[in-house]
Amino acid sequence: MFRRFSFIIAAALLAVACGRPVSPQDRLLAHESQIDAIIAQMTLEEKVEMLHSKTNMSSAGVARLGIADMHYADGPFGIREEGVPDGFQSAGWQLDSATYFPTGSALAATWSEDLAYLYGKGMGIESRLRGKDVILGPAINIQRLPVGGRTYEYLSEDPALSAALAMRYTRGLQDQGTAVCIKHYAVNNQETNRGSVDAQVDERTLREIYLKPFERAVVEGGAMCVMPAYNKVNGYYCSENEHLLNEILRDEWGFKGYTLSDWGGTHSTMGAMLHGLNVQMTGSNYLGQPVIDSVRTGALTEELVNEKVRQILRVRLAVEAVPDDVANTRMTSQPECQEIARKVAERSIVLLKNEGGLLPLRKDIRRIAVIGQNAVLPTQSGGVGAGVKALYEITPLEGIRRRAGAGIGVDYAPGYRNYPGRRRPSAPDPLVASAIDEPADPALLAEAVALAREADLVIFFGGTNKNIETEGSDRADIQLPAGQNEVVAALYAANPNLVSVLISGGPCDLRSLEPNSPAIVQGWWNGSEGGTALAEVLFGDIAPSGKLPFTFPAKLEDSPAFALGNFPDKTAGGDLFTLRYREDMLKMTPAERQAFLESLPKPVSKYTEGALVGYRWYDTKGVKPMYAFGHGLSYVRFGYGEMNASVSGEVVKVSFELTNEGGMEADEVVQLYVSRPDATVVWPAKELKAFARVRLGAGEKKTVSLEIPVRDLRYWNVQTGAWDLEHGRLELLLGAASDDIRRRAEVSI
Ligand code: BGC
Repeated sequence: MFRRFSFIIAAALLAVACGRPVSPQDRLLAHESQIDAIIAQMTLEEKVEMLHSKTNMSSAGVARLGIADMHYADGPFGIREEGVPDGFQSAGWQLDSATYFPTGSALAATWSEDLAYLYGKGMGIESRLRGKDVILGPAINIQRLPVGGRTYEYLSEDPALSAALAMRYTRGLQDQGTAVCIKHYAVNNQETNRGSVDAQVDERTLREIYLKPFERAVVEGGAMCVMPAYNKVNGYYCSENEHLLNEILRDEWGFKGYTLSDWGGTHSTMGAMLHGLNVQMTGSNYLGQPVIDSVRTGALTEELVNEKVRQILRVRLAVEAVPDDVANTRMTSQPECQEIARKVAERSIVLLKNEGGLLPLRKDIRRIAVIGQNAVLPTQSGGVGAGVKALYEITPLEGIRRRAGAGIGVDYAPGYRNYPGRRRPSAPDPLVASAIDEPADPALLAEAVALAREADLVIFFGGTNKNIETEGSDRADIQLPAGQNEVVAALYAANPNLVSVLISGGPCDLRSLEPNSPAIVQGWWNGSEGGTALAEVLFGDIAPSGKLPFTFPAKLEDSPAFALGNFPDKTAGGDLFTLRYREDMLKMTPAERQAFLESLPKPVSKYTEGALVGYRWYDTKGVKPMYAFGHGLSYVRFGYGEMNASVSGEVVKVSFELTNEGGMEADEVVQLYVSRPDATVVWPAKELKAFARVRLGAGEKKTVSLEIPVRDLRYWNVQTGAWDLEHGRLELLLGAASDDIRRRAEVSI
């Protein structure tokens, strides 16, 4: 064991001596001799105390040796409210209201590495105020299914976009002195049976699609903690998956920090100890006394325990503990971070459609009818772990009212009933739906139509909520809930000046809404300043510049996993997170519990679509989506000049002139895709390889340069078990969206 570490130190020293930059992971090796001394003084019991939870959101240090406990908090969109020591119930604190940052898909819609860094910075600042050492985020799995319960937490369906943002979020947060815990490693793309499903994915797809965001966050971002997911990958639980945790994460990527299981996601002592887990969250039934017993009987070595403790101590010593009398003495939410939340929200909003020039709103509008409960319902909480107790949240209606000022009347009607999911009200409530697919409520509909008739313009707020899109379950479909389609049709008949704004984290089926909405905006769950940002865009103070980080399919059945019958799998399995807290399970003896868990069915999710996830599928199969990956309009037009392309050394370089042809400042997100006309290996029709967000004043021109490192063009060769480059022609496709390619060029590599 020690030989392995001396080798790592020697390698790091050699890298420095040769002038090579020390990798962000190697920074965790700064305290090795101090760690040797600490470990030498620890008893076996003290070491094992560090391998499991102490409270629901902490794991132990060694008080006797001045090593502080590790304090955790969710993540990823705000520092979660303080819970009681043994659970998630609120501790009832006063100073733990945080900034609510836009959710994952909204951040990804900015396509901005700079904003991802700032976002991480904001999370880092507030985590320090709360005395947290590790934030359970960012959540960076690929959005494989439009119905995915955590699509809103995750970033994108594309690995390059997800990876760039995950890496920068990680750096932004860790630069503030707190560690990230990137999650959920890996292939956690569905909530259905998430605690037991076996994601069966081929090695090439695993490497090129599902692991990319994790790889960049670890290798380039220097992520210090990794959370193995609940599910299995190719037969083994992620928390005891030798291939994922030891072979790839540690041996290939050089990860030097520690892994902590998802809550309730540890499954055995030997599996976890031997195959890469450091800390069981939560409980100690696997990585507590059984580890001590196993060392005593010789089934496990104390060296292995030492190695795990060392990996935890590296992070402990890299992250300065916030003293108890300093933490939680100021309100968590800080103006600087609220400003970051606003900047992200402003750049995330996607203008999907703008016919008849309804947007930006005309200056002579005097009366606006805002219809739909999604204009007034806060979105900070719900969705289980990722909820935030926000210091404040500007809803869309508040944002519009503030911006409209005294000169414009803004009326509001709920329009439809809100679907509560499992959170049923105790008494009947006229504003709460009893079924997700119930028809429109006639009284609410009539009230909304009356307001629409009187108004110069109608803004309809539809979409989902965090009872529908939530951790723990996937959506049954992507239909708009509770009669929203009927409501929008009636509103449009009453007043065709209608803008629809979708407030959701994932895509919805827009086939019915589309013909009744000349303008459509994707407004997301956009954080504390979401309403402010939305009003700025609607009123034209800023031009919209978000681009879709995932495809809006025309219909669910078009999407790859559905088209191939890979999802849904009808096996009823079990969400171990939920099961863990089941009353009857808590009363079981360990043996009974084990037998019960083993009696559960063994659901499987086959990934036979391979790399054809998201737009890779639609493009390759020629299936037209409702709105394509990367789509998003502006209030101005952008001109794309001739593209110059060359290969210089190990980099493909592209430059072109981008012109803002409109009358206001605006950002464009330029996207560079690659297709391979000569390929002998199978490839998707095209893949995103570079992008940039560019700000241009009215009429301004800029030369934009993009680069693709040649190593990013490699594929995973399953024969050799290594990355390989296929030489030949590359077609470079430059555009404003995956379906809006403006310039083409060819190079050879
Ligand atoms: C979620 C994690 C979260 C953890 C702690 C789990 O249910 O999957 O994302 O960090 O709970 O709240």
